[in-house]
Amino acid sequence: MKVLSVVGARPQFVKLAPLARAARADGVDHVIVHTGQHYDPLLSDVFFDELGIGPPDVHLGVGSGSHGVQTGAMLAALDGVIDAHRPDWVLVYGDTNSTLAAAVSAVKLHVPVAHLEAGLRSFNRRMPEEHNRVLTDHAADLLLAPTETAMRHLASEGLRARSRLVGDVMTDVLLTVRAGVDDRVGDLGERVGLAVGGYYLATIHRAENTDDPDRLRGIVSALARLDRPVILLAHPRVVARAVAAGVELTQGSLRAHAPLPYADLIAAALGSAGVVTDSGGLQKEAFLLGVPCTTVRSETEWVETVELGWNVLAESPTDIAAAVSRPRPDRTDAAPYGDGHAAERVISILRREG
Ligand code: UD1
Repeated sequence: MKVLSVVGARPQFVKLAPLARAARADGVDHVIVHTGQHYDPLLSDVFFDELGIGPPDVHLGVGSGSHGVQTGAMLAALDGVIDAHRPDWVLVYGDTNSTLAAAVSAVKLHVPVAHLEAGLRSFNRRMPEEHNRVLTDHAADLLLAPTETAMRHLASEGLRARSRLVGDVMTDVLLTVRAGVDDRVGDLGERVGLAVGGYYLATIHRAENTDDPDRLRGIVSALARLDRPVILLAHPRVVARAVAAGVELTQGSLRAHAPLPYADLIAAALGSAGVVTDSGGLQKEAFLLGVPCTTVRSETEWVETVELGWNVLAESPTDIAAAVSRPRPDRTDAAPYGDGHAAERVISILRREG
């Protein structure tokens, strides 16, 4: 069986890691295509190296641009690559512009396409990720869903017959990495002079939080006024938007820091008093690590984290302070994100249904 994976942005490299391992173990001919959507070494190369993926087989070097320009450039470049390899499956991941481009290219070439992390919905039609995931789900031949909630969304859109519940591959990678980071939990704090439990860890990068200067300024001011130091792992997008808006990312309690490789991020989250984020992945990682999370959005795709009490939505910047200082939630044994073997399940379904 030949599988061609298309990835391009940081969270997709994390999802690719367990898939690449399971594919290797199963003797799959696995071709990895990197669109080049993310190109900074800290957002890209570092994940291929530390998660043992190895370099991509094909790199399209597309880079940044408006949605149409970026997605269109990927689409044009992918046609030739998919046609040359003619895989049994094109596998696309998550909800970025790279996901949508690969799904559209494959479906038009009549190559079967499987969507990993299918069925997530925010029902917020202003989010680029929502456009990407809805369009990809409806284009794909096989929908690999991480949760029961995602399966329900797919069924309600008439896609039940193509949907399979596999669990979440981010659980696979998190459990593997978690097992090896105990001795690094204090590292980030030590580097910036803070004790374990003495800081909040923050990431903010989504368009809806960064592109409106007033919204960005409000979030930054709220973080700067929190009761403990806040380490902001600053994605290039928030850095660029903050410079353009004249917003200082280091002020008050807030200190900007470069993004971290995956294992360092997990260790840093474990060493924090709580996480404040708009990332989808970090909401789940915090839940799986038993770290309270505050999500700076009006909705989340990962509703289980909220229902189980480990995640609170702070729609307005003025809601953030109360959310981060809430009492610690009760421990839970619920495992809505699978058992850490989702990637193996994906490979066996691709073999069976290819
Ligand atoms: C993309 C995804 C988002 C995902 C995020 C993870 C889409 C629509 N969005 O957002 O769903 O959560 O990745 O990080 O696909 N930039 C750099 N260096 C890079 C990459 C980007 O400096 O390596 C800067 C550029 O100014 C660029 C901006 O970040 O214009 C935005 O990059 P882009 O790829 O458009 O989307 P992300 O915000 O990274």
